[in-house]
Amino acid sequence: MSRLIIVSNRVAVPDAGSKAVAAGGLAVALKEAFNAYKGLWFGWSGKITENPSSEPVIADRGRVQYAVMDLSPQDHREYYSGFANRALWPIMHYRLGLAAFSRADYAGYQRVNRIFAQALAGLIEPGDLIWVHDYHLIPLASELRGLGVSNPIGYFHHIPWPSGEVFNTLPASTELLRAVSDYDLIGLQTDSDVHNLSRNLVDELRAIPLGGGSLMVDGRRTRIRSFPIGIDVDGFRQAAERAGMNRTVRDTVAGLRTRKLLIGVDRLDYSKGVPERMEAVERFFASNPDQRGNVVFLQIAPKSRTEVPEYEQLSRDVNEVLGNINGSLGEPSWTPIQYVTKAYPRAVLAGLYRAARVGVVTPMRDGMNLVAKEYVAAQSDDDPGVLVLSKFAGAARQLPEALLVNPYDRFEVAEAIRAALYMPKAERVERWRPMFERMAREDVDWWARSYLGELEGFRTIEREPPAA
Ligand code: F6P
Repeated sequence: MSRLIIVSNRVAVPDAGSKAVAAGGLAVALKEAFNAYKGLWFGWSGKITENPSSEPVIADRGRVQYAVMDLSPQDHREYYSGFANRALWPIMHYRLGLAAFSRADYAGYQRVNRIFAQALAGLIEPGDLIWVHDYHLIPLASELRGLGVSNPIGYFHHIPWPSGEVFNTLPASTELLRAVSDYDLIGLQTDSDVHNLSRNLVDELRAIPLGGGSLMVDGRRTRIRSFPIGIDVDGFRQAAERAGMNRTVRDTVAGLRTRKLLIGVDRLDYSKGVPERMEAVERFFASNPDQRGNVVFLQIAPKSRTEVPEYEQLSRDVNEVLGNINGSLGEPSWTPIQYVTKAYPRAVLAGLYRAARVGVVTPMRDGMNLVAKEYVAAQSDDDPGVLVLSKFAGAARQLPEALLVNPYDRFEVAEAIRAALYMPKAERVERWRPMFERMAREDVDWWARSYLGELEGFRTIEREPPAA
């Protein structure tokens, strides 16, 4: 059986004695892939240590072997917080005004990719397929090729890929375009991401389109295709069905009494549109005063990347908007917006989604947005809730029956919330069913199988040895 090597920025190694793959988004997503292959999972341990070893720590957990590296404080600051999260993240999410580029951070990003490649190269065997995830690791394929690795190497980009007008504002844009085209297969979330990257490669690097998503870039062939990531629909639905037993879910539902629940669940990130959504909810109550006291909006938003100044600022902004809205609209007996920064397990979230009449998922820009899919998966088929979804989330392409909104227009979002709350049951069922059925067909296993099936096709390609 051949091996699949997954590389991701963060790797959560399960506890010793456990043969299970670690819990968490990517881990759940790759469970199926690890059934078909023996696996090695390589990346950052999540630890920051002075003078980290250049050798990975290896841990065997059943079918999957983990190889993790610590980062030094400087690596973490420059590679992760700096270049990945202060330059690439905002640019990929079309937020030029929030991007902060520094040459030192970019050098740190390249350095960590080189360190990772050197550590990983020694672990690669001839039949291995290598699948790299996320924007932290764009230069990894070039580094591995430079070390003589000739295995198929694929990349999946979980976040949006913007148009050239936006991407090329990044001072390192041309180098990154060259680096990404060193992958055999570039997986993106949507056809518009594919269009943006392909077009930019043609414009900036004079890539030659060869048909079927393949391009010749600087004499190398790469293929760019969309593989919209799915979720474990059955698992999530079952979790929602069982969640009535959960204490947090039961208490939340009991506390609502006759009130209807609107829900938002996001990492606290400016791409998610949390303060903008709160303002839309405020607008809803302003134009529907009869609904005050009858509806509650619950926003769950665990804090994220708190060492990055733009995230600290966002946290302050949310507190201010929230305080103003609750202070001006609230009553001793009713708080319009409940805001929680604690992270909840999947079992609790599934139950809360099921209890909510409306899922309000309004990112300003998002690669896919799995919360939108989880909300749909959690609904009961005889009385489903309504999804209000940003048209700038990748998920909107697969969920067109949701109420699609422009998250920058709080009047439009408020109007959609109203329409969702008043929507008759027959229409709710009619909208929900095709979304659920499509998601069940295009679930997470389908995603991993489609991607890896295509990456397998690159096994037979002869590669030039790296230039000396
Ligand atoms: O969506 C992109 C992504 O990097 C995910 O892979 C990751 O789970 C999430 O953002 C959280 O990011 P971080 O690892 O910076 O907390």
